[in-house]
Amino acid sequence: MPVMRSLSLLGVSAALFIFGIGFIVVGARGRTAASAPVAPVTAEAPVATVKQLMAAVAMPTSEAIFNSVQTSVTDKGVEEIFPKDDQEWAALGASAAALAEVGNLMVTGGRAVDTGDWVKMSQAMTAAAKETVDAAVAHDKEAVLRAGDKVNQTCDACHARYRRE
Ligand code: HEC
Repeated sequence: MPVMRSLSLLGVSAALFIFGIGFIVVGARGRTAASAPVAPVTAEAPVATVKQLMAAVAMPTSEAIFNSVQTSVTDKGVEEIFPKDDQEWAALGASAAALAEVGNLMVTGGRAVDTGDWVKMSQAMTAAAKETVDAAVAHDKEAVLRAGDKVNQTCDACHARYRRE
């Protein structure tokens, strides 16, 4: 029966064809999952403006540094505020590290206003923040106060020079 035979051959090849498509689809899925849409995020594709970095990162992280070690005098007496356990010291270190990165971002992605004082002042903020990271790692309250004071000065210095409002 030549007709039946060729029909069944057709069936096999159709099945192979469909199976093949399935393979291609699965293959394509696999490839998509493996190299998912991870667009390269580089300094050449900046998202945050200086204003946004200030408001969303510099402000809260520096507040965390300034508030981390304090002596508050009330009518109930003197209260010493400082990180109480490893977790709190780590949180302080994380804030300081994020602030240090703001300084790095200020000089990349076309954010630098000039190649002189802007760069120096951004690097000074990163250095002071890095010193705070070290102080947090060492669980050293006095060193946090000293480094925090330097951080504060770097904010003021740059604002005095570059902030327009
Ligand atoms: C290298 C320069 C530089 C340093 C260092 C710097 N700033 Fe700024 N900051 C600016 C400039 C420029 C603006 C104004 C941005 C604008 O309005 O576009 C600004 C604005 C701000 C604003 C206002 C943001 C808003 O939403 O209007 C805050 C808050 C701020 N800075 C906090 C800080 C703190 C806190 C530090 C230190 C930890 C700091 N900045 C360090 C340059 C700097």
